[in-house]
Amino acid sequence: MPEHREWVEALHQIVRQRQTILPKRLVGPAPSPEELSEWLEAATHAPDHGRLRPFRFIFFPPQQRDKLGQAFARALRERDPSASEAQLQRAHEKALRAPVLLVAVVDAGPAETEVGVHERLIAAGCAIQNLLLSATARGWGSALTSGKAMSSSALRELLALGPSEQAICCINVGTAQQHRAVGERPSVRDITQTMTDAGLVDGLGRSNTA
Ligand SMILES: Cc1cc2nc3c(=O)[nH]c(=O)nc-3n(C[C@H](O)[C@H](O)[C@H](O)COP(=O)(O)O)c2cc1C
Repeated sequence: MPEHREWVEALHQIVRQRQTILPKRLVGPAPSPEELSEWLEAATHAPDHGRLRPFRFIFFPPQQRDKLGQAFARALRERDPSASEAQLQRAHEKALRAPVLLVAVVDAGPAETEVGVHERLIAAGCAIQNLLLSATARGWGSALTSGKAMSSSALRELLALGPSEQAICCINVGTAQQHRAVGERPSVRDITQTMTDAGLVDGLGRSNTA
């Protein structure tokens, strides 16, 4: 059993290691169903106001990807009836690249609700991040991909989305063909402000913690 300090360091390392590896750079071998299940179990630990579970993940095994590819191609044709065969083919291929593909779906809920769409999206985002970090921890590469097809009627139909549901993104996982340097991150100061007697100031005020 590692020391507590080692756990903390491992956690921070995993968070820092996660980076987008685009689906075209994700190859086999694919993770086992047990591992996939482990990531999805991690997703269930996301904060979720009201315990509404306002998200779901739709898994597309390799033999079902063609359906998704066809929906992507139909989505392109929906918004661009003049799309060429080559463009439709490329749209179709987007569904075939990563060894593991899940579509994340959020339920925005009724218009009048205490836990609104922003909170529901955050719950879904936290669940997705838990899943990504769990896959990263096991050494897998991953990427989220989205695009206009997410809102298409072709995809809505395939996923049997309810009226208040929306597909957010695809979660792609596989073996990273190559890792690049992790991209530059914003500084703590870039994303933080502290309330002071003089109003908001940028960064984390060190003397004002409770
Ligand atoms: C909801 C969502 C959808 C995304 N869709 C795409 C996408 O369609 N194509 C893409 O290249 N990256 C997509 N990304 C990944 C971001 O581009 C990526 O996270 C960002 O560039 C930072 O890189 P990093 O993940 O390596 O930190 C998406 C990210 C999120 C959160």
